[in-house]
Amino acid sequence: MDKKITIAIDGFSGCGKSTLAKDLARRLEYTYIDSGAMYRAVTYYVLKKGIDVNDSRLVEKALREINLKFAAKVSEGIFLNEQLLIGEIRSSRVNAHVSTVAAIETVRTHLVAQQQKIARSEGVIMDGRDIGTVVFPKAQLKLFITATLEERVRRRVKENISKSIPVSTHEIKKNLQHRDHIDTTRKISPLEQAVDAVLIDNTNLTRIEQLEMVLALVRCRTERKIEED
Ligand code: DC
Repeated sequence: MDKKITIAIDGFSGCGKSTLAKDLARRLEYTYIDSGAMYRAVTYYVLKKGIDVNDSRLVEKALREINLKFAAKVSEGIFLNEQLLIGEIRSSRVNAHVSTVAAIETVRTHLVAQQQKIARSEGVIMDGRDIGTVVFPKAQLKLFITATLEERVRRRVKENISKSIPVSTHEIKKNLQHRDHIDTTRKISPLEQAVDAVLIDNTNLTRIEQLEMVLALVRCRTERKIEED
């Protein structure tokens, strides 16, 4: 399949969007862009500088000091002013504050413009909360991923145990609920399913089952694009 399309993946926190996006990018030789990592890197910088995340004017000012870059086509980390961040942006401190930073209008305008610029060429998969609705409203394939809260907590607990990260099931559940609440109720581009997105509830799907389902969709949408061009 030479012709490439744009794939937008949105959904709740912890339902495996980035795992799916990376699996797809590797199989299709697409570029994967983790838009959440950009919001996380800004949050990491702001917290490191001791800036109050509720002070939107100071956060806005800090944006001018931040330069973000992805390391590879399917990158595990993000460069923040030449410093490669991987685990740092996944800390519980960043988890606790990232939704607040992501709700600031200027942060969103700034990062959305960068996301649209990075992805000017085709063959891009981006995951986040507003990709199908705001960043790529014309994407040929839009997915909205969900899973039950219980299943998302179970997966996150398992992942933390495998990485020897101390886990509190209660804390994980509270954080996911907190982020879902802020992400879906914020004023600017809240998380919502685009009208033309395909809804996938992966509670009862394995990683491979979901991947094969989506690859079939990609094949159909690519053929449709070839016919339309
Ligand atoms: O996908 P993630 O869990 O790494 O995202 C971290 C936070 O960033 C999430 O709580 C909401 C925010 N986010 C957003 O508002 N818009 C995006 N496109 C991506 C992430």
